[in-house]
Amino acid sequence: MGSSKADVEVSYDISNEFFRLWLDERMNYTCAVYETPDQSLEAAQLNKLRILSEFAKATPEKSILDIGCGWGACLEYLVTARKVKRAVGVTLSSAMAAEVNERKLPGVECISTDFMKWETKERFDGLISICMIDHLCSPEQAREGKAVDIYRAYFKKCWELTNKGAQFGFQAILRNRTPKMRPWGALPPDTRKDLEDYFFCTKEIFPGGLNPRLDELIQAVNPYFEVLECHTRREDYQRTTGEWQRRLRLNEKTIRAQWGDKVYEDYDRYLGTCVRAFDIHYSSLAQFELRRID
Ligand SMILES: C[S@@+](CC[C@H](N)C(=O)[O-])C[C@H]1O[C@@H](n2cnc3c(N)ncnc32)[C@H](O)[C@@H]1O
Repeated sequence: MGSSKADVEVSYDISNEFFRLWLDERMNYTCAVYETPDQSLEAAQLNKLRILSEFAKATPEKSILDIGCGWGACLEYLVTARKVKRAVGVTLSSAMAAEVNERKLPGVECISTDFMKWETKERFDGLISICMIDHLCSPEQAREGKAVDIYRAYFKKCWELTNKGAQFGFQAILRNRTPKMRPWGALPPDTRKDLEDYFFCTKEIFPGGLNPRLDELIQAVNPYFEVLECHTRREDYQRTTGEWQRRLRLNEKTIRAQWGDKVYEDYDRYLGTCVRAFDIHYSSLAQFELRRID
């Protein structure tokens, strides 16, 4: 299995106030899309939500499901900017769900559950899922060759929860290549540090999860969804994580005082690792416009 509820709590439940200090005001915790060199993080996050909502064909008469909805930025966007009649979110984190439901946004419901085990009779007209699939397959399962089957089970579940003609705005962090251990000789110092940082992030910040490879996703959508469009946005995620790190550092004193030195130092190391991983092509990001195969 990928990230358990306990794993997800490690990743997202330090404190909503902690994340509020360095994410954008709506608390999107995923890659933004920069359309100009001087655009703010806030504007770039809205671009991302617009693109994925267009991929999902989110229009006022529709009900949209956001799988792995975080702190509800996309749900809020769906009912305000796109005026959809109903926006339902699922998240494995109880702290995130509580935060969303406390806002009592008309048309929004947030459910704290494991999506893969969630049972509902409701069927949705469209789907959005922003970097939730990165939690579904563990490194051990990937090594055992189970990744495509796990991702395909997720797309099957997505298909089962939708009405005919549904579209899906889907975003995932990608694993392009990883720093490799070598059974012979010493590793170059840079690669050794990359390897240590990479394991630190997967163990301490995002336990249980592993980013998929682009080819695994392309295989796994079949036979449930057709790929209409796919964009990779490696540089956008490098810029997003760089901006998060800049804001984290601006709040260093507050964070050290309120959550301790370890939290500050771990997050600084993790965000620095992300910036480098996107820079040197270890990681990338993909956005897909998918259409249900009926
Ligand atoms: C990186 S956050 C992204 C949040 C949000 N989509 C955003 O763009 O800010 C990943 C989200 O996936 C959720 N998640 C992970 N595994 C899940 C599962 N099995 N079922 C439901 N939600 C899950 C987490 O609780 C979290 O809300």
